[in-house]
Amino acid sequence: MGSIRIRISLFFFGLITLGIKNSSAQTIPIETSNTAMVLQVGTHKELHMVYFGKRLHNSDEYDLVGGQYHQGTDYSGMADAAYTPSGSQNLFEPAISVSHADGNNSLDLKFVSYQTKKINEDVALTSLLLKDPIYPFRVTLFYKTYFKENVVEQWSEIQQGEKGNVILHKFASANLYIKGKSFWLTQFHGDWAKEMQPETSELTHGIKTLDSKLGTRADLFQPPVFMVSLDKPSSEDEGDILYGSLEWSGNYRIDLELDNLNNLRLIAGINNYASNYVLEPNKVLTTPKFLYTFSTQGKGLASRQLQTWARDYQLKDGNAGRYTLLNNWETTYFDFNEDKLKSLLSDTKKLGVDLFLLDDGWFGNMYPRDGDRSGLGDWQANVKKLPNGIIAIEKAAEKTGVKFGIWIEPEMVNPKSELYERHPDWVVKQPGRPEHYMRNQLVLDLSNPQVQNFVFNIVDSLLIQNPGLAYIKWDCNSVIFNAYSANEKYQSNFYVDYVQGLYNVLKRIKSKYPNFPMMLCSGGGGRVDYGALQYFTEYWPSDNTDPLERIYIQFAYSYFYPAIASANHVTNWGKQPLKYRIDVAMMGKLGFDIPVEKLNKADLTFCQNAIKAYNGFKDIVWHGNQYRLANPWDNDVAAVMYLNEAKTKGVLFNYLVNNRYDAASHLPIKLKGLDAGKQYKVKEINLYPGTKSTIEDSRDYSGNFLMTVGFNPQVNAGRSSVVLSIMAVK
Ligand code: DGJ
Repeated sequence: MGSIRIRISLFFFGLITLGIKNSSAQTIPIETSNTAMVLQVGTHKELHMVYFGKRLHNSDEYDLVGGQYHQGTDYSGMADAAYTPSGSQNLFEPAISVSHADGNNSLDLKFVSYQTKKINEDVALTSLLLKDPIYPFRVTLFYKTYFKENVVEQWSEIQQGEKGNVILHKFASANLYIKGKSFWLTQFHGDWAKEMQPETSELTHGIKTLDSKLGTRADLFQPPVFMVSLDKPSSEDEGDILYGSLEWSGNYRIDLELDNLNNLRLIAGINNYASNYVLEPNKVLTTPKFLYTFSTQGKGLASRQLQTWARDYQLKDGNAGRYTLLNNWETTYFDFNEDKLKSLLSDTKKLGVDLFLLDDGWFGNMYPRDGDRSGLGDWQANVKKLPNGIIAIEKAAEKTGVKFGIWIEPEMVNPKSELYERHPDWVVKQPGRPEHYMRNQLVLDLSNPQVQNFVFNIVDSLLIQNPGLAYIKWDCNSVIFNAYSANEKYQSNFYVDYVQGLYNVLKRIKSKYPNFPMMLCSGGGGRVDYGALQYFTEYWPSDNTDPLERIYIQFAYSYFYPAIASANHVTNWGKQPLKYRIDVAMMGKLGFDIPVEKLNKADLTFCQNAIKAYNGFKDIVWHGNQYRLANPWDNDVAAVMYLNEAKTKGVLFNYLVNNRYDAASHLPIKLKGLDAGKQYKVKEINLYPGTKSTIEDSRDYSGNFLMTVGFNPQVNAGRSSVVLSIMAVK
C-alpha cells in the first residue's frame, strides 16, 4: 500500500491546513517532545491509531510501525480505531453510539481532512474531521499538544444535520490504542476522609471501567485520575507510564479494554449512565478534555510534567503566590459572633498568616445556619451573629492588617430555607417521590439559567458589597439523588447540562474576577479534577487532617496535582506533635485551623517561627519541581523534596510513618534532581523551640554524593519529622 506521510511537528509549522484526501494511507504523527500518537488513514478512510509511545528520532519511520505488530484478522482490524463508532463493522466497545433521527442505530466514521494550528512555541492544536458516509453526522477529534511538558488534551465535537434529534448513547472524548506486553492500572478509590487510596492491578482481558454516577461531588468514591504502566509496574524513576484524567466535574466513565490482540483500548468521556444525550440538528456537543501525559522514566517525571502543565496552563493563577491562612471551622463550627471573629482576626495577625477565612454558619435569618440542617441557600449575613454585616468583619480585618475570606456552598439548599420555599422548582428532585438528603441538603438545578444567575450573583454580590474580600472557599457537600430537572426539555441531558451550567457560572466569575483566589472544596476532596481546577487556585484534599493520614492523601494527590494547589491545614486531628502537623501541612499551601488562643507560649512561638520559615521557602514548594524520594506505603520514613529550577535551593520533608519498635531512617535517602557538580549545604530547619538538631551541618556535600549515597535525615520516634534545607554553596 502506498503511503503519504504528513508530519505535524510543532516547531516547523505555523498555521497550516492540510486537507489532503488520498486513497493511499496517510500517516499523521501527533508529537510532543518525548511522545507520539500516530494516526493512520486506512484503505476505506477509516482512522486508526497505529502507535502510542516514545517519540521516534526519525519521524519517517512512523510509516513502518504498523507492520511490526500482529495485525489480527479482518474482524479485529478496527480494534485500533482512533474513535470507535458502533453499529457498523466495528464490534468493540464504542467511543460513540447513536440513534439517528430516522431511528437507525448504525454509525460509520470516515476520515475527511485534518489541520494543525500552532498556538505558540509550545502548544499546537490538531483537529481531524470524520464523517458518516450515509448520514449528515460528523465528529471532529481534537488533540491539543503541550510539546515541552509532554501533555496532551484530547476531545471531540459532535454535530448532526439530520431532520430531527439524534440520540447519543455514548459520546466519548477520547479513544486511544496502546500496544504493550501487559498493562498495570493504578486507580484511586475513597470516601469521605479517605480520599485517594491507590490500588494497582494487572489488567486482564475484558473491560475495566472507572466511573462516577454521583452527579456532583462526583469524585467522592473515585476521582477521574489513573495511571497505566506498560509491560511492568513502573517505579518512581523507571518504566513507561501513562497518566490520564478527564477534565470533568460530573459523571465520567473511563473504559480500559484489553482486547483479543492483548492491546489496550482506552475510552474516556462523560458517563453515558442515565444520559442518552439528545442532540438537536446543527447543535454541537463539545465533550470534555481527556488529559494525559506519558513518561518513559517512571512516575516522578510523569508527575512533574503534569504539575508544570497545571501551573502554566490550567490551574487558576497557577504561577502566582497564595495566601497562608487561619480558618475558624474547627475552632468554632457554627458558634461565633462578631466579637469572636474579631478576636480570631487578632489571632490571625498574631500567628503571622496572611488571611482569616470565615467558614460555614454566617448566613440565614428566618432559618439561621446554626447547624447543617437549615439556612443553606439564604446568603444574607445572620443579624444575630453579624449585626453589622460581613462588611464589619472585612473592615476589622483591614484594621488588624490581615486579609479576609469567606465560605460559601452556592450550589446547594437546605429544605429548611427561604430559598427552598420560594423556588421549589430550582431544586433537583423527582416530582412525586420522597426527597433524599445528603448532609440534610439538596442540589440546585444548575441546568436552569435562572439558577446559574442566582449562583453567580451570590459571588458577585459578596464581592461588590465587600470589595476587600480576598478569598472564597467554595464547598459542595451533596451528591445528586433523584436526578430530575423542572427546567430540562430532555431529562436525559440533565447530568451533562448540570456540569455545563456549573462551568458557565465559574467562567463568569473568572472572567469578572480573573485571578481571585478560590478554594475548591467538596466535603473534603469530593471534587478534585482538572475541569474544576481551571476556576480555582487551590483544592481541599480531605477533611481528614490527621497528619499521618494526610501524608498518604497528599502523596497520592501529588501524582497528579502541583503542591501549590494543595490546601493543607494544621488542625488538632491526630496524635502527632504540633511540629509534625505543621511539617506535613508545609508540603503544599500552609494554613491553620486551630484555636490559637489555646496554644501555650512555646507552641505559639513555634507556629510563628514555622510560618516565617515557610515564607522563606514556600516559593520552592509552590513553583519548584517535586521529587518523591520515599513513599509512605513502602517505607518507615516518607520523604519528598522540592527544588527550584536553577537547582540551587531545595527543601526536603521527612516523616516517620511507622510506629513500630525501631522504625527510623536507618538508610540514607537519595536526593534527586540536584546538579551533580554543585556543592550543597544541608541544614535542618523548623526546629521546635529548645530542641537541637542532631544533624551536623558544618560541611558541604556534592550533588553527586547526595544523589548517589544520599543523606540520612535521622528520623526516629524522638524526631518524627525533619525538614532540611538544601542550599547550593558553589
Ligand atoms: C465541609 C468542608 O470540607 C469543611 O472544611 C467545612 O467547610 C464544612 N463543610 C462546613 O460546613
